[in-house]
Amino acid sequence: MSIRTFMCLRKYSSETKTSKFFTTPIYYVNANPHIGHLYSSIIADAAQRWQRLYQKGADVKFSTGTDEHGSKIQRAANKNDTSPLEYCNRISSQFQRLANEFDVDYTDFIRTTCNEHKKTVELFWKAIENRGHFYLSGYEGWYSVQDETFLSNSQLKQKQENDGTESYISAESGHPVEWTTEQNYMFKLSNFRNDLEYWINRNEKVIRPKKFQRILLDLLNQEDGLHDLSVSRPTSRVQWGIPVPGDPSQTVYVWLDALVNYLTVSGYGRDETTFQKYWPPEVHVIGKDILKFHGIYWPAFLMAANLEPPKSLFCHSHWTVDSEKMSKSKGNVVCPFERATTYTTDGLRYFLLREGVAHSDGNYSDTKILRILNSELADTLGNLLNRCCSPTLNPRQTFPAIESSAFDNVSSLEVTKKLIESVTQLPEICRIHYDDLNFYKVADAVMETLHAANLFFESLKPWVLAKSPETQKDLDVVLHVTLETLRATGILLQPLVPNISKNLLDKINVEEGRRYFTDLGSFSWTRNDFIGIPLREQRDVLFRRILLEDETKKAKKL
Ligand code: MSP
Repeated sequence: MSIRTFMCLRKYSSETKTSKFFTTPIYYVNANPHIGHLYSSIIADAAQRWQRLYQKGADVKFSTGTDEHGSKIQRAANKNDTSPLEYCNRISSQFQRLANEFDVDYTDFIRTTCNEHKKTVELFWKAIENRGHFYLSGYEGWYSVQDETFLSNSQLKQKQENDGTESYISAESGHPVEWTTEQNYMFKLSNFRNDLEYWINRNEKVIRPKKFQRILLDLLNQEDGLHDLSVSRPTSRVQWGIPVPGDPSQTVYVWLDALVNYLTVSGYGRDETTFQKYWPPEVHVIGKDILKFHGIYWPAFLMAANLEPPKSLFCHSHWTVDSEKMSKSKGNVVCPFERATTYTTDGLRYFLLREGVAHSDGNYSDTKILRILNSELADTLGNLLNRCCSPTLNPRQTFPAIESSAFDNVSSLEVTKKLIESVTQLPEICRIHYDDLNFYKVADAVMETLHAANLFFESLKPWVLAKSPETQKDLDVVLHVTLETLRATGILLQPLVPNISKNLLDKINVEEGRRYFTDLGSFSWTRNDFIGIPLREQRDVLFRRILLEDETKKAKKL
């Protein structure tokens, strides 16, 4: 059946579904977490947090986890003198720690070594096999051990060795390849070419950003066509994996095994109610290096098993460090745990989501992060809240109630008009950018509004108004309007910086149940309803300025 028929026959219940399934890739356990891994995870986390913010009561499943099979892991365990499972336990717990510390609010942490997953892989394998999409074949080709994949001629590059001999390497990863002959199960990938093309072009959200949609279409249209795919390896070569059902001489290809994690989490074959609720996934967040696996192999496997492919893939580019690829050998791997001791977890989240654009690589630099966090989180946001809560300007410690007439006096000023216009438009602007997962644009829009708020605050000189009882009402208006702006930005920033937003909303006493997008449907000035609430007693430093090294030294001397 072609996907066209497939799509027509299947009821698109998911279009109106309120239950949604978001995923991160599952991480290899052959190395400790770095900021690239964190980046994939926080994009997915911000996406699912946005869903829950936008749709009060949204039922969201959000999975992350670790990819634990394959010869790479087998080798890493040997090198570390430990058993593969012990090795996996150790590194997997680091990824769990990464998610927990950085508030990646997952509902499921999946490990491919768990029993449920093994059973799901077996079921899925049989579903594809029963539908006649596998065949056994002698297979030979160029194989990259490090990438665990066979490569076609067009994916190779020639390399001149130091001794003058020539060898082949993968054009994409640069890893060496060797000519390998073996007996494999093959998947009839070539049969799915047209269906894949149809799926990729179905709408502009299926593959985002557009650049990656073009890359996938180019892969489908390359000269030597779409080759059938080897989906098993001889057990003699790869023992650390899941045996092919009914043929223990073969191990399931690690990428097939890994991709099935999404089905395991969804309850496929185990829990029909959960599966119906969450399948197909709303969005798989992935990095550009794993686009082919998610954008060609995965939907084809799913179609072969008569399951719906994911609704969308969101593919991000990579982080380089001082414009170089991060790698252990270069010693430039940025450790998120270590960086968070200086920048905090929210600080690092903010930087990555604010500076990272999905369509091109971003460059990590400590100078840049320090500048952005100090100027945006400490000064523009944090300092504004501090000033509103300072005992000199706000001795009664309230989000003050005001009278309409007092508001009218101030609202006619140009700075007030600009601020009110900016706050009023902000939710819709953020909604559009959140829907496109363009977090940097959300941060940009929020900062623009906060700049307008800072300008308003400065221009109205509340420290002068505070000096005389006659201007108390005007002072209250300044505090009220600024705090109403902070309420809006606090609500909108929750998916990016959950802790900072929580502290902000707690401080200004916004009830837990009123921190949703719908709570920005109107502002006090549009409702003409200027009620007051007490501020909460708690520390109000949202983000402490990070001192430069010589500033720290000076501070210590004092
Ligand atoms: N195990 C596979 C994924 C299987 S999903 C069914 C894998 N693991 S990984 O640990 O190597 O990478 C996981 C994620 O981290 C990928 O999305 C990858 O793009 C991302 N990153 C790894 N290095 C990165 C950067 N330098 N920058 C940004 N993200 C990068 O692939």
